[in-house]
Amino acid sequence: MMNLSDVKATLSFSDGSAAMELPIYKGTIGPDVIDIRKLYGQTGKFTYDPGFLSTASCNSTITYIDGDKGELLYRGYPIEQLAEKCDYLDTCYLLLYGDLPNDGKRKEFHSRVINHTMVNEQMQFFLRGFRRDAHPMAILTGLVGALSAFYHDSTDINNPQHREIAAIRLIAKMPTLVAMAYKYSMGQPYMYPRNELSYAGNFMRMMFATPCADYTVNPVIERALDRIFILHADHEQNASTSTVRLCGSSGTNPFAAIAAGVACLWGPSHGGANEACLNMLEEIQTMGGVAKVGEFMNQVKDKNSGVKLMGFGHRVYKNYDPRATLMRQTCHEVLNELGLHDDPLFKLAMSLEKIALEDDYFVARKLYPNVDFYSGIVQRAIGIPVSLFTAIFALARTVGWIAQLNEMIADPEYKIGRPRQLFVGAASRDVKPVSERA
Ligand code: SDX
Repeated sequence: MMNLSDVKATLSFSDGSAAMELPIYKGTIGPDVIDIRKLYGQTGKFTYDPGFLSTASCNSTITYIDGDKGELLYRGYPIEQLAEKCDYLDTCYLLLYGDLPNDGKRKEFHSRVINHTMVNEQMQFFLRGFRRDAHPMAILTGLVGALSAFYHDSTDINNPQHREIAAIRLIAKMPTLVAMAYKYSMGQPYMYPRNELSYAGNFMRMMFATPCADYTVNPVIERALDRIFILHADHEQNASTSTVRLCGSSGTNPFAAIAAGVACLWGPSHGGANEACLNMLEEIQTMGGVAKVGEFMNQVKDKNSGVKLMGFGHRVYKNYDPRATLMRQTCHEVLNELGLHDDPLFKLAMSLEKIALEDDYFVARKLYPNVDFYSGIVQRAIGIPVSLFTAIFALARTVGWIAQLNEMIADPEYKIGRPRQLFVGAASRDVKPVSERA
């Protein structure tokens, strides 16, 4: 709920231009906002905030992050409690509908999702157009966008029923599509989903089973994967969520908007960081492992090197990312279950973390491990290839993107997003004949 504050902001100009009073709104928790919607109309001026460091793009009831305290709430519930007491589909229900389901609603929602896990048989022909070594995120961007070609009955984003069935289909089919991308890269046959399995168990079987033998889901890995999905489900107005909102604001169909989110998440500064982090750890390991950490850290602190400690730092968290803590615990559980507690990369990661947290460069910049720092290690231990890490992030984040998209579309105040600019290019000039051009 947006509440008008008693406090107003006054904007005045040193050249004597008319001052302007700006309303301030308070939320439930977190920073107040200064409403500048009338600024341009009254002053002929824009605000300037590339990267949106001080800009709220919307009001939302879905996810709240307290960057200073290192807190993350989905619909008010702390991520630590959800990770311990709920499963991913409960979390999907929570993000989509605003509260956790009772037993009856829980069973009905789980059944609806599980019964939409198959994709149209034609989808496999999209994969055949790719080389076998195509990056899974290139494949997934294509496949998710292609889904809109199969569901003409649910592409009107302004129809609540269409949004509802599109949400179920996307949540249900992402694991199938990610597993198909993996099987295609392996040259193995696709495994069809099985309705008696859990969401995470189904994904594991579609990934790792073959038609040649029965497959038994390891419950420790199943729980760990389900928790990884929970930790990645939503995260306020991050780059890919803002992309989905902006894309959906044109009225395009939900599948196209989610495909835009997949494409944005791919970047190494965002969801691609888990893949980049694992590659970084393997590179340090090749250089000599823990003995070479000091040398690597010097590169990171040398601005000219362009080297970053991937999996560290965050635009909002200026304290420990609570998801990184939970991911490290999950790492311990999985590595112990698989007899890999001496995994050299895990030891290297913990050594890097210890050194970074005691180093002035990182302390001064409030750089802490984020969700991507440990997620790669646990996924690699499960047998997921590095190139698939971001696709799994996209799988888990699909529900957050949909919930945020639906919230925007359901907001009577929403308009198509159309930012302005500070123009610093050439003012109007005449075209010269070719012979007179420099
Ligand atoms: C995700 O927004 C979200 O919520 C995203 C996400 C989600 O769930 O959706 O949480 C998922 O994307 C997590 C972030 C994953 N990215 C990485 O791990 C890549 C490495 N991290 C950095 O690229 C960086 O920290 C960002 C992009 C995450 C945040 O960048 P900001 O907020 O723009 O901060 P910045 O780049 O201005 O950094 C501030 C300072 C700079 O130094 P100075 O210019 O002040 O001297 O810290 C330095 C940066 O150079 N810095 C790092 C660093 N991150 C920031 N130096 C070394 N290693 C790093 N990782």
